[in-house]
Amino acid sequence: MELVVQNNVSLAPYTTLGVGGPADYFVVVHTVKELEAALQFAKQTAVPPLVLGGGSNVVLSDAGYRGLVIINHITGRQYKEAGGDVLFSCGAGEVLDDAIADTVARTYWGLENLSAIPGSVGATPIQNVGAYGVEVADVVQSVSAIHQETLEVKTFTPAECVFGYRDSYFKTLAGQKWVITSVDFLLHTVARPKLAYADLQHLDHAEITQAKIREAVIAVRAGKFPDWHTVGTVGSFFKNPVITKEAFQLLQSKYPNLPGHETPAGVKIPLGWVLDKVCGLKGHTDGVVGLFEQQALVLVAKPGATAAQIIAFAHAVIEKVKIETNLSVEREATVYDEVGRSAS
Ligand code: EPU
Repeated sequence: MELVVQNNVSLAPYTTLGVGGPADYFVVVHTVKELEAALQFAKQTAVPPLVLGGGSNVVLSDAGYRGLVIINHITGRQYKEAGGDVLFSCGAGEVLDDAIADTVARTYWGLENLSAIPGSVGATPIQNVGAYGVEVADVVQSVSAIHQETLEVKTFTPAECVFGYRDSYFKTLAGQKWVITSVDFLLHTVARPKLAYADLQHLDHAEITQAKIREAVIAVRAGKFPDWHTVGTVGSFFKNPVITKEAFQLLQSKYPNLPGHETPAGVKIPLGWVLDKVCGLKGHTDGVVGLFEQQALVLVAKPGATAAQIIAFAHAVIEKVKIETNLSVEREATVYDEVGRSAS
């Protein structure tokens, strides 16, 4: 098998934000064998490899990447039914929404609330993708991965994934060294509709199907998210802050309508509401970068925007929120400089 590594490939077309300079080395892998060969190749490069799925949650540097960028296109879908359970094994490089459409067509319950999210299946455990009352942590049975240095193969249990809000073991320094090759989801043949999220409460519980939930989620998202095929975006650019009950009550005394959702970690505040109602930043634009006019948590980048402009804009937003509310805001999107993950 010959691995075709290219040089000097612009990364912008491989991200939904549409930014990113050239990769010194670039390869698309379709099988685990090809991934292993790519990881071997990467041992000769100056910096660790950077693996991308759909590129829908990353900000890549305008300077590009000095190592090997691996596009993970490992495919494959297998279903095993046993009793009311369905084990769905899915290649990491499968397009998430195509995989979900397939599960819905087969009338399996579990992933329908995550419809229309851009990106690949393999990326979902990393940030524990979630929407409309479901997180992948609710349905992940196991995650298979290869260690980028030792090439050890390991299957992670949900406990080993250490899922949190938009967080997992795979975001830690040690966890970043694993490249996800497939994800096993535990789905069900018996109805398990999740309709508690405000945007889905209007649905008729009696007549509900996976297809109806999928249709409703797609309709809601169409109103709240720009079309990433035409506008640069990573969905929510920031995380919703999780604060103590006391801090929430204090803030609510100033902003009586402030919504909050209790979680085991504290009260989760919709930052979109804060950006919109408190900071007046919904639709705010600075040149080619702005916050979406229908959903302030969504950053949008017009053609020609650079990573530097996006990061500077995001910093300004974080500052403004800090000044107005004293809330500390973290980015949800992962930012890379030309040698790896960047904290700044
Ligand atoms: N809101 C406003 N103004 C805005 C935006 C939101 O008032 O400009 C209010 C909404 O009316 C609502 C609340 O804030 O009462 C929450 O908004 P929404 O339901 O749209 O959800 P979100 O908290 O902004 C989160 C996830 C999304 C996910 C949606 C639906 C994060 C960071 N984001 O957004 O996930 O699709 O819930 O479940 O947790 C992503 O992670 O990239 C992502 C898109």
